[in-house]
Amino acid sequence: SRTAAVIPAAGRGVRLGPGAPKALRALNGTPMLIHAVRAMAASRAVSLVVVVAPADGAAEVKTLLADHSLPERTDFLVVPGGDTRQESVRAGLDALPPGIDTVLVHDAARPLVPVDTVDAVVEAVRAGAPAVVPALPLADTVKEVEPAAEKGLPEPVVATPVRARLRAVQTPQGFDLATLVRAHDTVALRGEGATDDAGMVEQLGLPVVVVPGHEEAFKVTRPLDLVLAEAVLARRRA
Ligand code: C5P
Repeated sequence: SRTAAVIPAAGRGVRLGPGAPKALRALNGTPMLIHAVRAMAASRAVSLVVVVAPADGAAEVKTLLADHSLPERTDFLVVPGGDTRQESVRAGLDALPPGIDTVLVHDAARPLVPVDTVDAVVEAVRAGAPAVVPALPLADTVKEVEPAAEKGLPEPVVATPVRARLRAVQTPQGFDLATLVRAHDTVALRGEGATDDAGMVEQLGLPVVVVPGHEEAFKVTRPLDLVLAEAVLARRRA
C-alpha cells in the first residue's frame, strides 16, 4: 500500500494582501510551501509528494524544492495547476504514477500540520474509510445568513446550527485514491468548484469520517495568520 500527498499550491492568496502567490510567501525565512511539503514528507507513510504550482510558476517551484533540504526517501513531482482549487487537485491526481492506492490532499496554506495528524489520517484510510477529514470543534457559534447583495449591509439570519455538532475541517484529507478520482470524474463543478475534497465524496453518497485535527493545522489566510504561524515556529524551536 503506497501513499502520495497532493499539495494544491496554485492559489493567489488575495486575502493575505498584495505580493507573491501565497504558497511562496516566507514564514521565518522559508516559503510556506516548503513547510507544507516537509510536513507531508515527515510521515513515513508518504512516499511521493506532488506539488501543484501556479500555472506559470512550475519552474520556479521546481527550483525552490531543489534549493531546500527534503527527506531522501520521498519522491517529489511538480505539475501546473488550474483556475480553481478543484482543478488544481485534479491536475495533481492525474500526475500520480501507478501503484498508489491512498492519497492525501493538503493545502499549502496549512504549513504547520503536525506529523501525528498526518499519520492519523493515513491510518484511518488504511483501516477502511474511503474519506477521512481532520477537524476541530468550533469556538464561535455559526449562523447561516441570507447573504446581502452589497458588502456591509445587515444580513438576515436563516438558522443557527447546534455548535456542538459542527466541526471546522482541515487538511490533509485522506482518500482511497480510486474513490477520489471517481468523485472528480462524476461530481459537477459548480461556481468556484469544491473548496473541500471530502464534500465531493459525500456527494457520491459514500461515508466520510472525521478524526481529531490539530490547532497548528490552521489555514494561513489573513495577515494575522502569518504572525501566528511565525509564533508557532518560534515556539517549536525554543
Ligand atoms: O483559496 P484557498 O485558501 O481555499 O486555497 C486553498 C489551497 O488551494 C491553497 O493551498 C491554494 O494554493 C490552493 N489553490 C490551488 N489552485 C487554485 C486555487 C487555490 O491550488 N486555483
